[in-house]
This record gives sequence, C-alpha cells and structure tokens, in this order.
Amino acid sequence: MYRKAALLISTLSTIALLGAGCAKNNTPSPSTKEQIIPSITTENQPLTENNQVVIKEASIGQDGWIAIHTKENGQLGDIIGYTSLPAGKDTKIKITVDRNKVTPSLVAMLHYDRDPKGAFESPGADGPVIRDQQVIMQEFTILNQGEITKKAVPTTNTTPTSYVGVRKEFIVTAKQWSFTPAVIKVKKGDTVVLKLKSTDVTHGMFIPDFNINETMEPGVMKTIEFEADKSGTFTYSCNIPCGAGHKAMSGKLIIE
Ligand code: CUA
Repeated sequence: MYRKAALLISTLSTIALLGAGCAKNNTPSPSTKEQIIPSITTENQPLTENNQVVIKEASIGQDGWIAIHTKENGQLGDIIGYTSLPAGKDTKIKITVDRNKVTPSLVAMLHYDRDPKGAFESPGADGPVIRDQQVIMQEFTILNQGEITKKAVPTTNTTPTSYVGVRKEFIVTAKQWSFTPAVIKVKKGDTVVLKLKSTDVTHGMFIPDFNINETMEPGVMKTIEFEADKSGTFTYSCNIPCGAGHKAMSGKLIIE
C-alpha cells in the first residue's frame, strides 16, 4: 500500500517535470524585432557638401522613418528631410535635408510607417514613435551652420507660384501579386526615391517612361532615384514572371 503510493508520487512528479518542460517550450519567445527598444543617437556635425546629415545609430521594432526637424526658439519646427528606417538597427544613416532651412540645432525623430504603408505621411498616419510617454528624438548641432550658403531666392520673382522640387521617398514592397503602395503621387520637379523590396519571390520594377528596369530580389533593399521631370499618369509594373498573377501586378505613378 505504502509502496504503491510512493510509486504513484514518483510517477506524478515525473509527469509534473515533463509538464514543466513542455510549458517552458510552449512559452512564446518574442521575436527579436519586438525586443528592439526604439532609440536614436546623434552627434554634432557639419552639414555635408551634398546637404546630408548622418545619424550615428537608430533602432526600431517595425518599419519606420527618421525625420529631421528644425529647432527655433526652443520649438520644434518643420521637417526638412527624412529617410526610411526598416525594422531593426542601422548605423551611419544619411539623410538629405533642405539646405535653405537648416537651423543651428536640428532634431532627429523616429516615426512609424503606418497604413497606408510606403510613403511618409507626417502630419498624418506616420506619427512619432512614443515609448514611456516620450517621443524618441535627439537634438544635435550643425557645426558649420554659419557658413552654409543658402540658395539665392530671387527677389523679383516673375513666377511666384513656381514649384521647387523636393526629395520624396517611398518604400515599395512587392509581393505576389501587388505593389504597396499601389499609387505613388509626387509633383513635377520632385526627386523620387524608391526603396524597393520583395517579401516573397523575385519581382521586377519596370517604369519605361523613366527608363527604370530593376530586379527586386527577396530580402534585399534596393534604392533607385529619378527626377519626376514630366507630369502625367504612368504605370509601373512587374516584368519578371512571378506566378499566376504576374500580369496584373502593377501600380500608378502620378506626377502632378
Ligand atoms: Cu511580380 Cu511578376
């Protein structure tokens, strides 16, 4: 009787041990991306010849952006440049800014890329990354701000509405069988930067009107750049056979 009980206890404890082992294995291990604490580290620096600032290091748990704000009288000002920051950690990130608007201090701020994905919408969907009720941002000084020669703004402007193009960046994700975003809208005169990536198989990015014919390999981000020098509605499409829906895989480039 006593032996039987002892045997039962030992069997039970074995089951308990096995159970504990199982429980351990079943505990969902958070993906590495979720463990990333959003952060940004900047250094004081001169603005480069080609109007770039360099962010020392930045981390984000999901795809996002780094925006550069001006700072005037202690207040955050306009965004004068931005770049995409894919989920993960990156270092020495170059961002082109508007030379004419550089203030002695600038602020680098993390933003999320929310739906509609791919284009930087701020103000709009792509609000700042907030952690512990703090916006993730860091201020830095432009060491050569006093020497920056601003582009001469014509005083006698005969065409006051003439538009000065800016740099617009989009993350274009290809997957069977569509592009996100499916519509890219810019203005004539803008420089269009497309960061191309595929999440499944090899696709193509074909924009014949702008002589663009690129291959999008899965997992590789490729950056292309072109001038939106004519207005109209153009088509971008996939020109690499990628399965049943290949022929329907296209998007629209609208240049206003
Ligand atoms: Cu994607 Cu063809």
